Amino acid sequence: MTEKPAAPIRDGPVAIRPADSADKSRIRAWRNKPHVRQNMYTDHKIKKAEHENWLEAAQCDPTRELWVIQCDGEDIGVVLISEIDPVGKSASWAFYIGEEGLTGRGIGTRVERLVLHRIFDELKFDRLRCEVLEFNQMVIGLHRKFGFRETGRIEARVERDGKMVAAVCLELERGNLPKQPPLETTD
Ligand SMILES: CC(C)(COP(=O)(O)OP(=O)(O)OC[C@H]1O[C@@H](n2cnc3c(N)ncnc32)[C@H](O)[C@@H]1OP(=O)(O)O)[C@@H](O)C(=O)NCCC(=O)NCCS
Repeated sequence: MTEKPAAPIRDGPVAIRPADSADKSRIRAWRNKPHVRQNMYTDHKIKKAEHENWLEAAQCDPTRELWVIQCDGEDIGVVLISEIDPVGKSASWAFYIGEEGLTGRGIGTRVERLVLHRIFDELKFDRLRCEVLEFNQMVIGLHRKFGFRETGRIEARVERDGKMVAAVCLELERGNLPKQPPLETTD
């Protein structure tokens, strides 16, 4: 079984740290922001009880890791690593920056480097997958830059604004990892 993460990982001003119970209300607030909800599989406003059940289940589930994104020491978003399979050496992931004013500044790019470090260097997995709604081309482009390739589509995955929207399935294999400068782990 994969050990739950204990230590934060940093790349310059951006870090991910393991989430804990004290993060409960801020995670729900971020997840309910319109710019986050519209890009997720479910876009309803998540109520307190639903969120608490989900968080409790996530925290004791060995196939999931929940991390909080920090920038300059401030908590700003979430990374969820799921479907952790130590035998098949693969996992899936998703992320969001809950503070809307902080998107589009390169933080997500750093977070992706940190997640690849967790998956391929720390856990020594061979494969990382994700699914992105097809209109979220910015995120699809970001993943492609890191070597993710499209492996399929799930047609009509969600209904959004009265239209059916497909999800694009992406996978990064160890052999396609881009050459990257090392993480900036010190000041
Ligand atoms: C996905 C997310 C975490 C990315 O983080 P971010 O800090 O905004 O990403 P970055 O600033 O590193 O930008 C990544 C790339 O997208 C581009 N980009 C960012 N915002 C953009 C925008 N509004 N329009 C077009 N391109 C944009 C950047 O230019 C960059 O591309 P480049 O490397 O070619 O310059 C963040 O945007 C977010 O939380 N979005 C809402 C939730 C979501 O969509 N999650 C993903 C689904 S799992």
